[in-house]
Amino acid sequence: MNLFQWPENGAVSLVCKRKWAETSTSVSFTLAPEAGEPLCFDFIPGQFITLGIEIDGKMEYRAYSLSSTPNQTELQLTIKRVVDGKVSNYIVDRLQEGQIVSVLKPAGEFHLQQPHGKQIALLSAGCGITPVMSMAKTLLANEDDDTDIHFIHAATQVDQVIYHQELITMAKEHDRFHVSIMLEDASGSDYLEGRLTQAALKQYCPDIAERSAFLCGPVGFMAAMKENLEALGMDMNVFYQESFTPAESTQPDVSLESMSNNNVSIFVPDFGAQVETQVGSVLIDALEEAKVPVIAACRSGICGSCKCRVTKGEYTRTSTTTLTEDEIELGFVLACSCQAQSDLEISLN
Ligand code: FES
Repeated sequence: MNLFQWPENGAVSLVCKRKWAETSTSVSFTLAPEAGEPLCFDFIPGQFITLGIEIDGKMEYRAYSLSSTPNQTELQLTIKRVVDGKVSNYIVDRLQEGQIVSVLKPAGEFHLQQPHGKQIALLSAGCGITPVMSMAKTLLANEDDDTDIHFIHAATQVDQVIYHQELITMAKEHDRFHVSIMLEDASGSDYLEGRLTQAALKQYCPDIAERSAFLCGPVGFMAAMKENLEALGMDMNVFYQESFTPAESTQPDVSLESMSNNNVSIFVPDFGAQVETQVGSVLIDALEEAKVPVIAACRSGICGSCKCRVTKGEYTRTSTTTLTEDEIELGFVLACSCQAQSDLEISLN
């Protein structure tokens, strides 16, 4: 079957083919071309796509991990309701089968092509389960692969475990797939109740320190798991995590007084847009203030959607993920991870 061809830059339109409730607070849905012959989607398990959805007349972009496996004719995503989650909650409540959405090509460095041994631990909480589910399904579908997988997932209650039945079936069908589920409230189930402490991780998976680990979930969960795994003696060279939280600036602190004397201007000739800001300001904020149509899906220097080029001026940056060496040389930056250090001229091409 032919492969779906992603454009290098820009979005494609895909249609929501099917949508169903996964739990009372999450939905899954699939995306495919609206018409024509079925095509296979190629990506690396663990990667995400950026969705663009028009909400109340404004295009909103967000990055979501894929939970399907490569070479399927539909992409699958699972989205959970979150407090103030404009796009996530729209998808849960209002996205319809048959609706068209914009999609940017799969991206992300959190994926199965990272070096890992024959024993891995996939750790997740809540909706962080999606990329590691894609990894697990892909490894299990490959009959030549013999990776031993321990899948450890944390959720609030048993009825909030996303893909619960699918996980149980996978564990029944594959000797090399082991599932452990920890619940905050385990009533109505045989699972352990509590938190994934070092002791709990050891109890579930005694050889966890000898494994490679892939971790995805809320920020606090990930920080705790990283600390636990490090303390248990895991080799952090084979520890990988996905974090969609804003990258911290590494630039020196600039005092308010000195900032007031350090105004810089950001000029975007293609759009005739100009805005004043201060030394150290993050470029994406200035571009948005200038109403320049730049996409910022993750705001964390991960997805690459905010790529633009600094044609004049000085800047610092905190992430170059997704940029090639040539692009970096040519002055391409990720606007969400780029800080203005002088007047800048920007091109979106
Ligand atoms: S918004 Fe994702 S890299 Fe900038």
